[in-house]
Amino acid sequence: MAHKPLANFSLVFTLILFCVCSRTGESRAPFACDPRDGMTRNLPFCRVSLNIKDRVRDLIGRLTLPEKIRLLVNNAAAVPRLGIKGYEWWSEALHGVSNVGPGTKFGGDFPGATSFPQVITTAASFNASLWEEIGRVVSDEARAMYNGGVAGLTYWSPNVNIFRDPRWGRGQETPGEDPVLAGKYAASYVRGLQGKSANQLKVAACCKHYTAYDLDNWNGVDRYHFNARVSKQDLTDTYNVPFKSCVVDGKVASVMCSYNQVNGKPTCADSDLLRNTIRGEWHLNGYIVSDCNAVGVLYDSQHYTDTPEDAAAATIKAGLDLECGPFLAVHTEEAIRRGKLSENDVNGALVNTLAVQMRLGMFDGEPSKQQFGNLGPRHVCTAAHQQLALEAARQGIVLLQNRGRSLPLSVSRHRTVAVIGPNSDVTVTMIGNYAGVACGYTTPLQGVGRYVRTIHQQGCTDVACNSNQLFGAAETAARQADATVLVMGLDQSIEAEFRDRPGLLLPGRQQELVSRVAMASRGPTVLVLMSGGPIDVSFAKNDPRIAAILWVGYPGQAGGTAIADVLFGTTNPGGKLPMTWYPQNYLAKVPMTDMAMRANPSRGYPGRTYRFYNGPVVFPFGHGMSYTTFVHTLAQAPNVVLVPVTTLYKLENSTTMKNTIRVTHTNCDTFSLGVHIDVENTGVVDGTHTLLVFSTPPREKWSPKKQLVGFKKVHVVAGGQQRVRIDIHGCKHLSVVDQFGIQRISMGEHSLHIGDLKHSISLQATLEEIKT
Ligand SMILES: *[C@@H]1O[C@H](CO)[C@@H](O)[C@H](O)[C@H]1NC(C)=O
Ligand SMILES: *[C@@H]1O[C@H](CO)[C@@H](O)[C@H](O)[C@H]1NC(C)=O
Repeated sequence: MAHKPLANFSLVFTLILFCVCSRTGESRAPFACDPRDGMTRNLPFCRVSLNIKDRVRDLIGRLTLPEKIRLLVNNAAAVPRLGIKGYEWWSEALHGVSNVGPGTKFGGDFPGATSFPQVITTAASFNASLWEEIGRVVSDEARAMYNGGVAGLTYWSPNVNIFRDPRWGRGQETPGEDPVLAGKYAASYVRGLQGKSANQLKVAACCKHYTAYDLDNWNGVDRYHFNARVSKQDLTDTYNVPFKSCVVDGKVASVMCSYNQVNGKPTCADSDLLRNTIRGEWHLNGYIVSDCNAVGVLYDSQHYTDTPEDAAAATIKAGLDLECGPFLAVHTEEAIRRGKLSENDVNGALVNTLAVQMRLGMFDGEPSKQQFGNLGPRHVCTAAHQQLALEAARQGIVLLQNRGRSLPLSVSRHRTVAVIGPNSDVTVTMIGNYAGVACGYTTPLQGVGRYVRTIHQQGCTDVACNSNQLFGAAETAARQADATVLVMGLDQSIEAEFRDRPGLLLPGRQQELVSRVAMASRGPTVLVLMSGGPIDVSFAKNDPRIAAILWVGYPGQAGGTAIADVLFGTTNPGGKLPMTWYPQNYLAKVPMTDMAMRANPSRGYPGRTYRFYNGPVVFPFGHGMSYTTFVHTLAQAPNVVLVPVTTLYKLENSTTMKNTIRVTHTNCDTFSLGVHIDVENTGVVDGTHTLLVFSTPPREKWSPKKQLVGFKKVHVVAGGQQRVRIDIHGCKHLSVVDQFGIQRISMGEHSLHIGDLKHSISLQATLEEIKT
């Protein structure tokens, strides 16, 4: 089948959509404190002039116990005698307003919302201002849909679990395997969603799933029964890092506890994890919610308590404020009657949920009269929002290999391009999971069709690719074209929630199709991989007939445009892999249930992620090429940094603790350093470059081989040069965590790596004057 170029398709589409949407929609009635309701409008909890704490206290004082209990669950019941409507807490906005969760519905004035690339793709941009900007746009659309009565204000996104194992079906939802990267993503996206004012939240975000949850269903073990055995060390320096950053730096309004157990305790019933850590140490200003039915799961499936009342009591006492699911509404009153829990414990939970609703303006009367009250259907799927979705896809695409600079293709030399593969003409596949209804799509085939004439062949009917029936036609197409683009990879039938992958190779006979088409192809063959998780494509990497390999993740509604822009060089790719691409045989040594990050040679365990795994890879974390070349020079960096020690101390002097200082004994405010690097674009095209700064601490047997301590993305014109400053936070980034979970700073030589640059910094303790 031949296609003519589809010039300006998306512009026309955007204009049509804009016209359809620009009439004003129905606006929602007040959730509470309706100014027309004389009975309630003057009650203290409705008074905007009072502070939120006092309003919450007033409201709790008016509620009966049964009313309170019906507010502990996601479909919170109305309290008609106080003029309060029911509220559905469960909405999702992982990479665009989503229709997963009953709080949000598309249709009518809101047929769709901007569908950004899946998070693993956006993470590959390593661009923190992009992450925040996406959050800002998503919350515009979410508020607009709330005002129109079709969405909530509490969004259970983002997912910031560490992408620990390459098989994980939900790895696509996360920002990857590195804790610093994931933490930065969490804080940036949450800031974008929630807006600038803590007491006037635009929407309330939620970091999930706390913690050490990153297995869905593997080898007979599912997430409802999984007991993750996690060392204090791995918890502190890996699994909890993004959550801490989300709460402390991102000031998120909610954290969700997970289904799994950690060291024998369900996370939603663990007061150490909830009350002591999230609230006590990190000072969450917001509510803790359970994953959906997690309280039921810990009773019914994990048999963690003897009675349902004990389950209700254990979770609320541990610090749970809201359950997604019906369990607490059914069993909490009886738990109180039996003396397992007090009404005061329930009040404590309501303080946290009601305060968030008040910060969202839900008790401030007429929504249309409030901040964000003007947002409506014409603010959804705008041309600017859809442009940002395209921009995000362009920034996230990673050029993995480019043999003899075969890419970019040229419209004058490659006038006809064969576009082949099960993902070559897909739409919903491009938005991954936890998506909504997109504003519209440009498929890869349509994208390429805007540049050149295309010949299209599916090659396989779907990604499972069980038959070679269509291979012959694909080979014929490749023989007739000046270049061949194979769009292969995965979709939600291979990796998804509740679906971990058994292996890392391309499914079914995809590999065979790629090799046969590459053999037949008259021109260069380009392999485009669409997937969330990494794929072992060693066969293609080593095949001289495969000219180039691109990884596009799940690139969102505008994915096809972005792919074509990269293929033809309108966009110079600058994405970097946010996770290690392991070879298939790595899996044989690593049960998915083994949570240990660190290698253990005595039991043949190779360790996980670039921080601890030293073995062969297909492509490493941080890999990503460009159509130009960049050269780094160190412009300025300290050789010696003094570590200010605040308390009288002595360097601890056991074999493992030698020459380390606890972070808590350090003045972290004054312990930072700046590294200045010149980046020169030595090629002939403009490009963006991500500087990744890694550090290797002095060797302890438990320290990572290297860890990311900072990153920055810059645009440099051809022949130009830019100086980049990267600030390194000493306590956060140069510390390591010991076996007891204590953060320490090792004195001595820390080696920084930036590309092939190396620089050594010596840390030396200095006693700080004690100010009194
Ligand atoms: C540190 O340990 C060494 C060897 O055990 C010992 O000789 C030395 O006195 C110790 N120093 C301090 C400050 O405790
Ligand atoms: C980061 O993303 C923002 C938002 O799209 C964009 O304006 C900026 O140019 C990007 N930075 C670089 C260096 O590409």
